[in-house]
Amino acid sequence: MAVLLVVDDEEANRLALERIFVRENYEVRTAADGRSAIELLRDGAVGVVLTDLKMPGMSGLELLKAARQLAPDTQVIVVTAYGSVETAVEAMKEGAYDFVTKPLRKDAVVHSVQKALEKFELVRENSRLRAQIAQVSRTEMIGASAAMRTLLEEARQVAPSRASVLISGESGTGKGLLARWIHELSPRRDRRLVTVNCGAIPEALLESELFGYEPGAFTGAQGRKEGRFDLASGGTIFLDEVTEMPLLLQVKLLRVLQDGEYERLGGTRTLRADVRVIAATNRDAARAVQEGRLREDLDYRLNVIPLHVPVLRERREDVALLARHFVAGHAARHGRTIVGIDSEALAALERHAWPGNARELENTLERAVVLARGESITLADLPAALRGGVAAPESSWLTFAVGAPLAQVERRMIEATLRQVNGDRTLAATLLGISARSIYRREAEWRDES
Ligand SMILES: Nc1ncnc2c1ncn2[C@@H]1O[C@H](COP(=O)(O)OP(=O)(O)OP(=O)(O)O)[C@@H](O)[C@H]1O
Ligand SMILES: [Mg+2]
Repeated sequence: MAVLLVVDDEEANRLALERIFVRENYEVRTAADGRSAIELLRDGAVGVVLTDLKMPGMSGLELLKAARQLAPDTQVIVVTAYGSVETAVEAMKEGAYDFVTKPLRKDAVVHSVQKALEKFELVRENSRLRAQIAQVSRTEMIGASAAMRTLLEEARQVAPSRASVLISGESGTGKGLLARWIHELSPRRDRRLVTVNCGAIPEALLESELFGYEPGAFTGAQGRKEGRFDLASGGTIFLDEVTEMPLLLQVKLLRVLQDGEYERLGGTRTLRADVRVIAATNRDAARAVQEGRLREDLDYRLNVIPLHVPVLRERREDVALLARHFVAGHAARHGRTIVGIDSEALAALERHAWPGNARELENTLERAVVLARGESITLADLPAALRGGVAAPESSWLTFAVGAPLAQVERRMIEATLRQVNGDRTLAATLLGISARSIYRREAEWRDES
């Protein structure tokens, strides 16, 4: 139970008050001066302080101020001499809960202390709830393997700060989800999380996308346009595939990270960014630096806190958990009653290598949920490659009829290549001799077509 702390330099007063409140079943402590009162306040058990104002050494008013700092939930009632209204008013201004006047009337004091204690319980409950909310995110990051637990613990620790985070990991491991998870665990959770896929936006447009432009910045730039950094103000910006950012633009990003400053395209005014940056890459950051795709100084700035999401095949314990999570989610989304996954199907899922990581697992199970004939997912609902036990390596040859539409050839070639490289757009682009951006553009077109 919360404690009542009585502070008075006169022993007779202390004893009298102590007796009253002990009889009312309060747990009471007493202090003869401000200093010892503060010592007692520190342990957090004191709900209400009842203090005399005039005391040698630290006055009641000073004690009140200290208490507001040290134990903001604790409620303070001051005892003033009859007629000294000004001090009472001053105490209320400083945040006292109430004041009582001498000579003390028992009923009035007891009533005031009781109300103050109720207030304390309420305030403390609120702080407790707030602290709890700060600990949970709406985003569910599933993972029970040691590797995931370590990762999530690291992420939880960096979330509240403003430090830049660089998330690395193969395609489909959950980098995007982790970025959201961190944002939702941060004090910025009520502001926006703005995502920019640096690989998907044409190079020429990326700068104005990020920083916005002023009228006349380039031909066709009518009016002013806010950039993603403006949109993310107070919140978080997620720069996906950051190694796809042109080197010149990386310099500007570096400046935002270092000095919090940027200008709109064609603008002269220097703007300040209150934005937390989370970046992601499915390549090795050190390699990207070596290859000259990522500026070393930018890597240094972004990599303040490196987080690496492990591939799914190195954390097979997570497969069953993730699988159930995806089945439940997609069953609800597709309005299907699926209660679970049978043991044979689960074994097959756990055996598979999952080159496409969590995304591949999710797609497989979404398909299974839609196709399932019964109330649980069985082996028959999984793709042939999984049913056979070992994942059949995809043939590295494609055959086309002469005269097949080139658009179709292109699509099948890009899709097959992407499957071979586990969805790594950058690598696929290198193999195909085109830019990663072209791949994104094609994919967007195919999405629009279907
Ligand atoms: N630990 C996890 N718990 C729950 N869902 C997950 C987890 N990891 C990944 N997912 C889900 O898997 C899918 C792929 O994850 P995500 O898009 O975050 O991967 P990514 O690493 O960003 O991929 P890419 O490199 O291709 O952008 C998403 O639907 C995501 O919600
Ligand atoms: Mg992603």
